Amino acid sequence: MAVWLVFLSLLYGFCFCTQTLEDQVASLDAIVRSLDAIVRQQNDNITALLVANNILKQEVAVLHEKNVKDRVRRQSEAFGFTAYLDGDEHIHKGQTLKFNRTLYNANHMYNLNTGVVTIPVEGKYIFSVAIEHYQQQILRCYLLVNGENMIDVIIHADSHSLNTQSSNTAVLGLNAGNAVWVTCDEGHVFGDNSFRGTTFSGALLN
Ligand SMILES: *[C@@H]1O[C@H](CO)[C@@H](O)[C@H](O)[C@H]1NC(C)=O
Ligand SMILES: *[C@@H]1O[C@H](CO)[C@@H](O)[C@H](O)[C@H]1NC(C)=O
Repeated sequence: MAVWLVFLSLLYGFCFCTQTLEDQVASLDAIVRSLDAIVRQQNDNITALLVANNILKQEVAVLHEKNVKDRVRRQSEAFGFTAYLDGDEHIHKGQTLKFNRTLYNANHMYNLNTGVVTIPVEGKYIFSVAIEHYQQQILRCYLLVNGENMIDVIIHADSHSLNTQSSNTAVLGLNAGNAVWVTCDEGHVFGDNSFRGTTFSGALLN
């Protein structure tokens, strides 16, 4: 009887031990499985973070580009000038009319010495030309871009009033480096420092 009891208790103990080992293996297996799941999830998370990081990089690049463009635009807001002729001038056909004083010339887009505007940045510009003279003879003047005629001014005084002024305005899409100037046919142009009737103005429109 006692032997049976010992045998049974041993068997029970053995089974118990076996059970315990199986449990341990099973729980270790479960741990490995969950660690494996965590690692896979972390890999997925890392992949997702890399994708998100790339998207952010692209957004930063776009913002950077926009910022550079905005800065260029802010600087270019200052492009504009008004020049006038401060003394009478006899002009020959095709000669550049040099409006030889400026009221305003931001960033020096108008060259006082040559009478030529150099377009600083691509954009939409407005130009206005006013010509005054004190003659009866017809006078025609032209606004040119790179030598190509854009708009014209004509003065034709009648016999009663010699003092005449005409003007014209243009909005033009221009590229950086374009040259803009005014020429006339042969004739006289009135200029004065106190009565500024012969003027040339331009500005970049936003
Ligand atoms: C993966 O990301 C999710 C959401 O951000 C988070 O809840 C989870 O804890 C992360 N998993 C790991 C293993 O880091
Ligand atoms: C501008 O040109 C006119 C006509 O040639 C001349 O009479 C005047 O002295 C010039 N003014 C300047 C500041 O150069």
